[in-house]
Amino acid sequence: MAEYKVEVTTGEWLLSETSDYIYVTLIGTDGQSNRTHLDNYGLDFQTGQTSSYTVTSTSSLGRPLLVKLEKEQFLYLPENEWFCSKIVVTTPEGDVILFPCYRWISRGEVVELRGGQATKVFEDELPLLVKHRKQEVELHKQLFKWAEYAKGVPYINSITDTFSLPSEVQYSFSKLVDFIYTKSVALAELNLKGLASSTEHWKTLDDMKEVFWYKRTPIAEYVYDHWKDDEFFGSQYLNGTNPNVIQCCSKLPPNVPVTDEMVQPFLESGSSLARETKEGNIFICDYKKLEGLPTRVVNGEPLPLTPGFCLFYKNPEDKLLPIAIQLGQVPSEHCPIFLPSDSEHDWLLAKLYMRCADFNDYQITHHLLNTHLLAEVFAMATFRNFPVIHPIYKMLTPHFRYTLQINVLARKRLISPDGPLTNGLIDGNGLKELLKRSLSDLTYSSLCLPEDITARGMQFIPHYYYRDDGLKLWKIINSFVKGMVEYYYPSDSEVSRDSELQDWIKEIFMYGFLGNSKSGIPESFHTVGELVKFITMIIFLVSAQHNAVNMGQFDYSSWIANNPLFLNNPPPTTKGRSGMHSILKTLPNVGTSVNNMASVWLLSKKFDDFVPLGTYPDEYFDEASPKKMKKQLQTELSFLSEFINTRNSKLKLPYIYLNPTNIENSITI
Ligand code: FE2
Repeated sequence: MAEYKVEVTTGEWLLSETSDYIYVTLIGTDGQSNRTHLDNYGLDFQTGQTSSYTVTSTSSLGRPLLVKLEKEQFLYLPENEWFCSKIVVTTPEGDVILFPCYRWISRGEVVELRGGQATKVFEDELPLLVKHRKQEVELHKQLFKWAEYAKGVPYINSITDTFSLPSEVQYSFSKLVDFIYTKSVALAELNLKGLASSTEHWKTLDDMKEVFWYKRTPIAEYVYDHWKDDEFFGSQYLNGTNPNVIQCCSKLPPNVPVTDEMVQPFLESGSSLARETKEGNIFICDYKKLEGLPTRVVNGEPLPLTPGFCLFYKNPEDKLLPIAIQLGQVPSEHCPIFLPSDSEHDWLLAKLYMRCADFNDYQITHHLLNTHLLAEVFAMATFRNFPVIHPIYKMLTPHFRYTLQINVLARKRLISPDGPLTNGLIDGNGLKELLKRSLSDLTYSSLCLPEDITARGMQFIPHYYYRDDGLKLWKIINSFVKGMVEYYYPSDSEVSRDSELQDWIKEIFMYGFLGNSKSGIPESFHTVGELVKFITMIIFLVSAQHNAVNMGQFDYSSWIANNPLFLNNPPPTTKGRSGMHSILKTLPNVGTSVNNMASVWLLSKKFDDFVPLGTYPDEYFDEASPKKMKKQLQTELSFLSEFINTRNSKLKLPYIYLNPTNIENSITI
């Protein structure tokens, strides 16, 4: 008689427990155990509980390969699904083997868990395992199906309701419950419920301040105090919610007729535009990509969209200041260049249109497409092409927690025809068109921070904390990924031979980047180095990059005059006619403003089940080396966090979005 100790852990999440019967069968190289009912004295399978059971077999099973789990009805109780975290089997020979589960199990389902060390497809030799692996991948391809979201846009998963997502990615209910209720609670929390349907224009800035002051963050307060200042305006393009657009301007574009005469008063005495450009002190944000996009029609008129540009100057005090703004791509008498020397309200209004263009490009390109939709592509390709035992699956799965859920919810609530994003400036068609334009411009290089910084010529500008913290994070993630990937792929030939890995990258190339080889996204991998870079990019993008563009939404956008989601009136065509009254009429009305505030409050929230970058509460790896490398990663991240805290303590406006303690392991909101 051989006795096996079987330790079963139930999830810690809300409603993880079950009262149903659970049966287990161990399958090893030399046979299988009895189908055993797991039953201890008292309640089994309670939330967060680990219980130990004994499973016997007439003789040794050899090396345990699979654990078969079955769940059957207990008395007449209704179904309550069980979230099984993991099973650990100790053999009579003293071997301890981990079988990760981390999924919901329903009645009648037969779930076979594969345990032990991670393996690649060519390393499985036993026919039982070869068959199991093949069937698992086939099943995953049935469960996770691609669907076209719109022409020219990355594919999405075909499911339209979070409750229909496969059990493998359902995780806990708590997040869903939180999300559903928080949106309706947000207005109440912000004490704004009574104003949500108001169509009145703001009468004074003081009225706005009174409403916006119920909840505040230190950064939101700073934004309110400085939203009109040029120095703050410039700093937002480096360390605000959209730090990826600004670039060093080595030559003025032909449609930017800014002259020395116009800007000399704002440059260092005796200097010229040509000299400052040559010295790398002129920067530009150009929103050409927005030109001609359809916008929402209000009172029979499409809302104005200003695909303009802004020139910045880094002065000798290392401040980045706006020096010229044009609110369209074609210069003309009716599209003047606004300057800091114009009237206070003309200049403020010009900056407002720039912020509005930036806000829309930011939400749709840099937030929705470059993080959420790409993360969904990476997640889908991972779930479809790898079995659970594959090392890349084990590495990446924690970085896709809740991503499919949040994207399904976003499509249902945020970018649906009645959602807040499509009720901003750009309508549903405009949104899809902008996604299409942005994807066709997107390159692999722009997704890799070190290359992106160099390509935009942003290596040297001081006080660019997004870059400083981001590059340190990139390096830490890269060194972790290198260790892990080299451990599982000791040579380039192992990379080339891994057909599951090659299928994975091919799907990413085809469904994420629509087979566009100009994007530079690899179609296949030939070397370990190529794989290390790609996995680094994925982990950085779904954790750090998403946090950089997501977390500051309330800080920078709750004061709507800083980040207006749309503006009511066309931009001024002549100077000298603006005043605070016309600015207030141009801003979104009271109802839109408070609803926007509630949305950004919700989208910037940290939820109770937040998992910080580099922490892996779910154990997927059975080997000692990955566990050691994770510890090292955590140590390095905590050093970086200390460094950022010290730096921030000396800043008037701290940069907190790439502090590892604030970054979540995956896109969950
Ligand atoms: Fe997000």
